[in-house]
Amino acid sequence: MAAQRVLVAYGTKNGSTAEIAEWIGEELREQHIEVDVRPAADVHGLGLGPYDAVVLGAGLYAGRWQRDAVRFARRHRQALTRCPVWLFSSGPLDPSATERDLPAAPSVARIVTRLDARGHATFGGRLAEGAQGFVARQILKQGKGDDFRDCEQIRTWAHGIAARLVGTTEQGLPQ
Ligand SMILES: Cc1cc2nc3c(=O)[nH]c(=O)nc-3n(C[C@H](O)[C@H](O)[C@H](O)COP(=O)(O)O)c2cc1C
Repeated sequence: MAAQRVLVAYGTKNGSTAEIAEWIGEELREQHIEVDVRPAADVHGLGLGPYDAVVLGAGLYAGRWQRDAVRFARRHRQALTRCPVWLFSSGPLDPSATERDLPAAPSVARIVTRLDARGHATFGGRLAEGAQGFVARQILKQGKGDDFRDCEQIRTWAHGIAARLVGTTEQGLPQ
């Protein structure tokens, strides 16, 4: 049986979602899945043909995904509705995302519906020195910048995706 191949694509402004995407990729690889982790903007021109499933996520800015991920979802909509898709957002600069399941922001919930995604998770965010933008600098000045990403939570979520994908293969269901 051929290994499953998964694309993990992400939209980021300040880099923290790129690391989340790498953690997801590492967990999927540990479950014997082939994984490409790429910035959503770099997938332009390439088809999604080689992939059995896609994980797409982005940092939240004013309630919306970073734009590369929004564009990716729009550009590849047809292909994405034909394969299993999981989505994630990274944002809250407080422990809320590790304390409970946070719903998708309304603009992201619309993408979940449009792509008929299998699932969505909200993970904590990170704001570190050097972040771009006036608001980011203000938040940092107020001492509110920190890293609220929970690697274990993220890997557990990715593990669940792997279980669903591997289960699909083992049962010989159409992929
Ligand atoms: C200007 C600005 C707006 C933000 N808006 C939101 C928001 O609406 N919701 C949220 O949960 N987090 C928000 N955040 C936090 C970011 O989503 C968080 O820092 C995230 O980790 C950024 O991802 P990135 O490093 O991949 O760009 C905001 C941060 C900044 C600087």
